[in-house]
Amino acid sequence: MTGEDLRQRVAELEAYLDLGAKLGLRQGLPYTRHWSAGADFLALLVEHVLVTRPGHIVECGSGLSTVMLAGCCALKGVGRVLSLEHLPEHADACRAELARYDLEGHATVLDAPLRPYTLGAETHAWYDLTGLPETMIDLLVIDGPPGRLAPLARYPAMPLLFARLGPAGTVFLDDAARPDEQAILRRWRREFPDLVVTEMDTGRGCAMLQRQPQPSGEAL
Ligand SMILES: C[S@@+](CC[C@H](N)C(=O)[O-])C[C@H]1O[C@@H](n2cnc3c(N)ncnc32)[C@H](O)[C@@H]1O
Repeated sequence: MTGEDLRQRVAELEAYLDLGAKLGLRQGLPYTRHWSAGADFLALLVEHVLVTRPGHIVECGSGLSTVMLAGCCALKGVGRVLSLEHLPEHADACRAELARYDLEGHATVLDAPLRPYTLGAETHAWYDLTGLPETMIDLLVIDGPPGRLAPLARYPAMPLLFARLGPAGTVFLDDAARPDEQAILRRWRREFPDLVVTEMDTGRGCAMLQRQPQPSGEAL
């Protein structure tokens, strides 16, 4: 590891700790270098949640992001996170972290094994939605399933959940700089022209998607 690599890693760890401190999470964070969402992505997400205070948050892929989202809800006294997790051991680990921080009232990890969905002419493996209540979604955070499981692994999120997105609903897609996520974004832009996509320059790339504001009634 070069000196520059080391400096970058220290800076990133400091950024995680700063975010944790902002949310009152001062007893260690469930961080893993290659699997946790990047600190820059989490900083954008935390800022969005603290400012917009979404009520119903759905997340694909649990972990550090779940704890931080729950921390935001606790801090503002509003909102609840439902996190879809396909691997039981990670679901249990995340539940243990939420319990350690007394955040179980703000986030629930749902066991959601991957199951086949037929979308158009294709079949994709994606989270079983049986446990997800039929509520509108104010914020959808997509950081799973892992991209290496299959091509376009995160594509089904929009065809399966777009209809539940509230009028001011917002979507954050992590790892948006990867070629696979770029291909997913091209498809979503084509299939959901109502969505406005804003790409942000985090280390791994972040895309924020929002419904186009509807024209408000007749002109005076
Ligand atoms: C990118 S990770 C999600 C990370 C989460 N949003 C966070 O910020 O910590 C996507 C999925 O990878 C799986 N995963 C997490 N850590 C892993 C590990 N160390 N080895 C293998 N799979 C892992 C989990 O199933 C997780 O839902």
